[in-house]
Amino acid sequence: MKYYLPLAFVLTLSFSAAAQNQKIEKKIDSVLKLMTLDEKIGQLNQYTGDRDATGPITNNPNKLKDIRDGKLGSMLNVRGAKETREVQEVAMQSRMKIPLIFGLDVIHGYRVTFPIPLAEAASWDLAAMENAARVAARETAASGVHWTFAPMVDIARDPRWGRVMEGAGEDTYLGSKIAFARVKGFQGKGLGNLDAVMACAKHFAAYGAAIAGRDYAAVDMSDHTLWEVYLPPFKAAVDAGAATFMNSFNTLNGIPATGNAYLQRDILKDKWKYTGFVVSDWGSIGEMVDHGFAKNKTQAAELAIKAGSDMDMESRSYLPNLAKLVADKKVPVALIDDAVRRVLRKKFELGLFDDPYRFSNEARQEKELNSPENRKASLSMAEKSIVLLKNNNQVLPLAKNLKKIAVIGPLGKSEKDMQGFWSIAWEKDNLVSLYQGLKNKLGDKTELLYAKGCEISDSSKTGFAEAVEVAKQADVIVMAVGEALDMSGEAKSKTNIHIPGVQEDLIKAIQATGKPVVVLVMAGRPLIFNWTADNVPAIMYTWWLGSEAGNAMANVLFGDYNPAGKLPMTFPRDEGQIPVYYNYLSTGRPAKNDKDTRYRSAYLDLPNSPKFAFGYGLSYTTFEYADLALSATELKMDGKIEVSFTLKNTGKYDGEEVAQLYLQDKFASVVRPVKELKDFQKVMLKAGESKKITFLINKEKLSFYNQQLKWGAEAGDFKLMIGTASNNIKLEKDFALVE
Ligand code: GLC
Repeated sequence: MKYYLPLAFVLTLSFSAAAQNQKIEKKIDSVLKLMTLDEKIGQLNQYTGDRDATGPITNNPNKLKDIRDGKLGSMLNVRGAKETREVQEVAMQSRMKIPLIFGLDVIHGYRVTFPIPLAEAASWDLAAMENAARVAARETAASGVHWTFAPMVDIARDPRWGRVMEGAGEDTYLGSKIAFARVKGFQGKGLGNLDAVMACAKHFAAYGAAIAGRDYAAVDMSDHTLWEVYLPPFKAAVDAGAATFMNSFNTLNGIPATGNAYLQRDILKDKWKYTGFVVSDWGSIGEMVDHGFAKNKTQAAELAIKAGSDMDMESRSYLPNLAKLVADKKVPVALIDDAVRRVLRKKFELGLFDDPYRFSNEARQEKELNSPENRKASLSMAEKSIVLLKNNNQVLPLAKNLKKIAVIGPLGKSEKDMQGFWSIAWEKDNLVSLYQGLKNKLGDKTELLYAKGCEISDSSKTGFAEAVEVAKQADVIVMAVGEALDMSGEAKSKTNIHIPGVQEDLIKAIQATGKPVVVLVMAGRPLIFNWTADNVPAIMYTWWLGSEAGNAMANVLFGDYNPAGKLPMTFPRDEGQIPVYYNYLSTGRPAKNDKDTRYRSAYLDLPNSPKFAFGYGLSYTTFEYADLALSATELKMDGKIEVSFTLKNTGKYDGEEVAQLYLQDKFASVVRPVKELKDFQKVMLKAGESKKITFLINKEKLSFYNQQLKWGAEAGDFKLMIGTASNNIKLEKDFALVE
């Protein structure tokens, strides 16, 4: 039932918002008028605190004096109600008494850690991801921090790049929906609320396309690919009201993003009419010297401010250079004023001019952090993020009356690795390893055995014998293998993304006992584990699941939660296939299947197909897709087609299915992908239950950027596909778009 607010009420609301904005603009004007040029430049300067450095530190013993002298507008990596209050008190000793804003990398949770964003993306549950960000925002705001440097919305097609863990994977449609949801989650009912923090869409732009998957490396792509694949999630973040943007370390087609006026002014601030502010990434302004784009930091400062970089994080380029650049008439003061206005606007919206200490409240912090409600949200998100890759002979779910279970592998008792990279404020309070999660569930009913077997990445097999002996005593073996938490993340690119060390040899040794084996792979990126995938009957991808990891894994292992995750990123068979992704362009000689290689676009030594496809994931139950119907097979430009089909749970467990809708534009003025995700629905069905699912197709879903980068749809023939994975299409039908 749709409720329409009375027009008068809506108009009043919008008038009051406009009036509020007008009021803030007047206040900004009055503050700007009182500020010296140095004080204005101070607002564009950000330093890190010393506790959680997240980049190369410059030793600076005068930070507090600089704050007192009005030389800082913001700090990152200062957190805690007490600590933020203390630093804010110093800012209140400055002449202008302009409050600082405190920023922090709350990428997947603050004190309660959530699954890494790539894992959350595997849930395809937008409401759950929004809620996860909401919880993170509540804990962050309660800790005196006003701003998170999240969501990272970089599309990534290369698992050699360690920061894939931080984003939503390879798909533009899914990534845009997730970007929108996470911004809404962080900002809640809006800035100024004491449970809301500023979001920061990063890294603008195309950072995930670093050549060879090597972090910080150059990015080179057509403007068409930039607009078609990498920019939409940022536009979604703007549409969601993201308060800030962060630029990226990479060059884009030869111009560093930090000094790239096409990105930051033409697209973001002009075309998208963005009124928030852009913070540089750590040191990225000064790094334009290393890029070979600026002769020195003075020129770097000039290039950056002109290109629309508003705040200088930790490169110390703006503070010592901007005043002289203004005096030398190289930088108009109007550019400084625009940047300062953007920063002050957020400080007013946060209510910090009314009360600089309003977020620094120890009682609220005490109540909010690590609360049972927050842990419950983390547990639910973790359960939803698990992807069941294989379950032959119904090894899973495990029976609850097993006498002995052996937990084997180097991640079986790890708590720290479950927090994942970019977990910044967790503490040793009841983190739950896989072993502990099983203990919590089984109590004394089942005997839990344990053997580490080997380390994560060294070559010693001396622990194998003991592990095999332990396995022989058990009814079932649950193996925990994968990456340590510092093997994916920033500056963690790898050329070899096989499961590290001798862990797969350990799996082989345990498999050889003939006992039922379940392998849980824990990692921040897609890994390669072909032998395990081909030989072990039951495999789950559990990523890094956060504070409640073990409880979530236990609930899924025993069927108290039926897994429904779907891969947000393609898993290659070998590094040699990378980049490999589902929405590739056809060629003039497409290989029809893995065997079709003669004069075809294919490899001599591997199939083109990946090990596991985008959108793939199993359930303990099964689903049937039937009765596809289109309300028409011709779509008028301003019309719509209703698509419907019947989804049935044909198994014996209640479960959720992510039904995916893909479209193919069969020919167009620019070659189009063989298929593109254009909608999805996550549906809960009881065992035996059927439901009619409907989607709507309109020209927006058929639109793309043409050769002139104009967005629009072209009449022609299309194929509609409904599937349970990008490589498992269940229903399809052709239709046409007509003028
Ligand atoms: C880091 C990251 C960025 C982060 C920032 C502050 O280098 O690239 O994502 O927000 O610095 O820690």
